[in-house]
This record gives sequence, C-alpha cells and structure tokens, in this order.
Amino acid sequence: MDKRFYITTPIYYVNDVPHIGHAYTTLACDVLARYKRSCGYEVFFLTGTDEHGQKVEKAAIAAGETPLELADRVMQRFQALWDKLNISHSDFIRTTQQRHKLGVQEMFKKIQAQDDIYLGSYEDWYCTPCETFWTETQLMDGCCPDCGRTTEKLKEESYFFRMSKYQQQLIDHIESHPDFIQPRSRRNEVLSFVREGLRDLSISRTSFSWGIPVPGDDKHIIYVWFDALNNYITALGYPDDINGNFAKFWPASVHVIGKDILRFHTVYWPTFLMAAGLPLPEKVFAHGWWTVEGKKMSKSLQNVVEPNMLVEKYGIDAIRYFLLREVPFGLDGDFSHNSLIHRINSDLANDLGNLVSRSTAMVNKYFGGTLPAPGALAQEDSNFIQLFGEKFALVDRQMNDLAFNKALQSIWELVSAANKYIDDTAPWALAKDENQKQRLGTVMYNLIEAVRLVGLLASPFMPDTAERIMEIIGQNEPQTLEHDSAWGCVKGGTIIEKTAPLFPRIETT
Ligand code: ME8
Repeated sequence: MDKRFYITTPIYYVNDVPHIGHAYTTLACDVLARYKRSCGYEVFFLTGTDEHGQKVEKAAIAAGETPLELADRVMQRFQALWDKLNISHSDFIRTTQQRHKLGVQEMFKKIQAQDDIYLGSYEDWYCTPCETFWTETQLMDGCCPDCGRTTEKLKEESYFFRMSKYQQQLIDHIESHPDFIQPRSRRNEVLSFVREGLRDLSISRTSFSWGIPVPGDDKHIIYVWFDALNNYITALGYPDDINGNFAKFWPASVHVIGKDILRFHTVYWPTFLMAAGLPLPEKVFAHGWWTVEGKKMSKSLQNVVEPNMLVEKYGIDAIRYFLLREVPFGLDGDFSHNSLIHRINSDLANDLGNLVSRSTAMVNKYFGGTLPAPGALAQEDSNFIQLFGEKFALVDRQMNDLAFNKALQSIWELVSAANKYIDDTAPWALAKDENQKQRLGTVMYNLIEAVRLVGLLASPFMPDTAERIMEIIGQNEPQTLEHDSAWGCVKGGTIIEKTAPLFPRIETT
C-alpha cells in the first residue's frame, strides 16, 4: 500500500486577519495529518498565505503600507495562530516567495506552449472581493451573484486559458471518480455548473500591478487564482523538484477548502492541470461555513470570532474538540459560547475527565498507584475489549471520509462504555471483599488500558490532552495508531498518577 499522504489548506488572503473560519479549515487538516502520521503514513501538510491580487493591493493602500509590508505583517499573524493551535504543518508557502513565482510562470509557459493560452480582450463585470468576472447575464440586479456586492465594468486586453476545451474531459473525470468532489451534494453542484458550459478564462490583468508578471509580457500580471492554485505544486518543488517532493507527494490526497471556493478548486484547477498534463488531486473536500450566534460573521457586524481569544479563555484542545465535534464536516454550523461551554462541561469535564480521574484514583486507592497485571477475563471484560477493536476500525473509516464529528462520536462511545464498565463492575464493592482482589485488579487494568486507547484515538484531535493522559498512566514512550492500537500494551506494575481534573467545569452565571 502507498503510505504517502498530501493534505492542503487553502492559502489565506492577507487582507484579512485570521478568524475562526480559517482556524476551522486548518484544524481539520491538522487532525487528519496527525491521524495519518500516527497510522504510519508519510505526510506532507501544506498551508500558507495568498499575497497577490487587487484585494490585497487595495487593503495595503488603505493601511498606508506596501502590499509586501502588509503581507509580511499579516502572514505572521497566521503563523503565530498556527503555532498556538498546535498545527503540525510541514511547510508554509507564501505566494510572494521566489520558489512559487518561478513555478507559476513555468505552468503558464507550459500551458501557453501547447496553445491553450491566447491573447484576447474582454469587457465584463468584475467583483473585486471575489476576484471574479461575470457576464452581464450572470449578474443579479447588477451585483455579484456569489456575494451580492457591486461589480465594476472592466475592458482589458487579457490572456485567456482555453478552459472551454476541457469541459467534456472534466465532466468525464468527475463522473468516473465519485470521490473526487466531496461531499456528494457539492459534486452535483459542480457537475451542473460545468454542464451549462465552460467559457475560456481570463488569466491575466493589466489594470493593477501586484502580482506575478506574465512571462515575456510584463504589462500583464497573472490572475490571482491561477497564481494561488499553483501553490499546491510549487510548494512541493514544481517544476525542478530538487527535493523530490513533487514526485513523491503529487497528486494531493485531499485539498480541504470552504464551500466558497469550490468552483476554483474543482473547475479551474483541474483544467489547468489537464492542460499541463499533470494528474488531478484525488479529492477536494468542501466544508460548510460557520455563522456566529446565528449571524453571518462580518467585520461590519463586529461579530468576528477571534481564535486567540477563544484559546486563552477555554484552552486549545477544548477549541479543537468543539469545532470538529459540533458540526458534521461539510455542513454549515453556528458558533455560540453556550454550545461551546456545554460541550466542554459535558463531553470533556464530565465524560472524559471523570473517566480519567475515577480510573486513576481507584488504582491509587486500591493498589497504592501500582497497576496490577490482569487476571482471567469475565464475559463483560471480553465484550468491553471487543468494542475497542470495532470502534478502531470504524474510526478509521470515518477519518478517511473526513467525518470528524462521527469519529469523535465513536471515540466518545468508548468513553461512555468505559464509564458504564465502572458502574457495572462496581469496583468499590469488589474492594470490600479480599477474595475479589484479583478481580478488582483485572477491572483496574482494563480501565487503564481503555483510558490509554481513548487517549491514543483522541490524540490527533487533542494532542496536549492525549500527552497528559499518557503521562498520567505512565506511558512515557510516544505511541502510534500503527503500533499501539492493540489491547494489552500497558504493563502490570506501571505507576499511575493521582491527578487533578483534566478539564475543570466552566461555571456559567
Ligand atoms: O479564498 N466558516 O482565501 P480566504 C468556515 N486565498 N470557513 C471559513 C469561513 C467561515 N465563516 N470564512 C473563511 C481564499 N473560511 C483564497 C484561497 S486557495 C488556492 C486560495 C475558510 O482568506 C474557508 O476554508 O478568503 C475558506 O475557503 C477560506 O477560509 C477562505 O480564505
């Protein structure tokens, strides 16, 4: 089996500072990257910033900076947030880097050399926030049909990409690769868009200058989406591939994006790649959008949720858990402080926290903190152990489908089963009977082993918490899903800590 995995986030525009929406995409990718790594895959996880284009140029002018000064400043905000959120990316690409610019120009030349780029001119309506042209008939009451904002008429000489030529090839590809666009509803949306007909795409601009020059004609700069999408290959070293990463990791296993940029990733990008004779990504997964307390997040409503503030208030792992647990990946969701607090108190403090503290406290109370080796298994033990095997297999399928909320649900079913195992085996009653000492030891062993396996499964979602759990139960060597998923890895004689609650309850007034 090919154990390589290449996962990407969108590269974020530097005209905006990072908010919870950006954090969401990046966290989801981080969880999957960590999961795959733990399963023994060699993972390349890419994120970065999209620094060219009119939107960035306008923001820089408004801020009294050069576009590069703006990009340098905002890029650091993204990097600092990813550090804070424990994001384990392999590389961070900036579109102003030389490695990227050269790669983009190479792609342009390659497609041009085979006559899929030609010089023409257009007169169309442009939406700057979306960096997209619309025809008169596509406009909705004169405004952008995607975002509803005003558009302006632009007439320019431009290079065009013969996107229309690839219409049928793209339809064929989507139809013959059912997993290419996920979730399924998005796939249907794209198919009907492509079937309506693809126009050639303007891929250069002359009306502003903040971008990568068209090779051999530097009056023109390359359209920001042609520029940006290519980050997925330039970061791997395309075209020179000095480090061999392009050969090793392309095509991408999955591009994770928000639903707002689906068309760019499932129509523009694949047709660019087809023209360049390169393989297409295996999967593009578009997740939904977060609203905040029922409203669209926007600067003008002043309701933008700032991830640093959330982390300081609730802790990194609580945020990581909440964002991926609350909403099925692919659907829209609503962020509210009440639901966040509710999840922390019920799932983390009550369910997981109590399991860890009850189990470890009992080993300390009944065995002075030294875990006994297990004795013979009763039927209830075998049932309990079997559940773990089943859930590990289920979580694997759910993770590969990017069904993060379902995977967490499955893991928490183990937490509940372990809490129920405590109630059913009633260790406090066993402890009263000296003849049941060995039975009590077996129950304790099974509980600590359950805690370990829950920690292992939860580790991609909550790396710090999982590390703390492993420390508490005396597992000092790093564990992986590849090597340590089987029941029975904990050794009798292990010292189990007495511990403070993992997640203190949050009191609401
Ligand atoms: O589109 N809910 O960058 P961008 C969930 N530079 N996710 C959200 C969100 C919300 N409310 N708001 C933003 C661009 N996102 C281009 C991408 S890729 C070659 C170029 C997330 O800074 C979501 O992932 O506008 C969305 O796709 C991305 O931020 C857009 O980021």
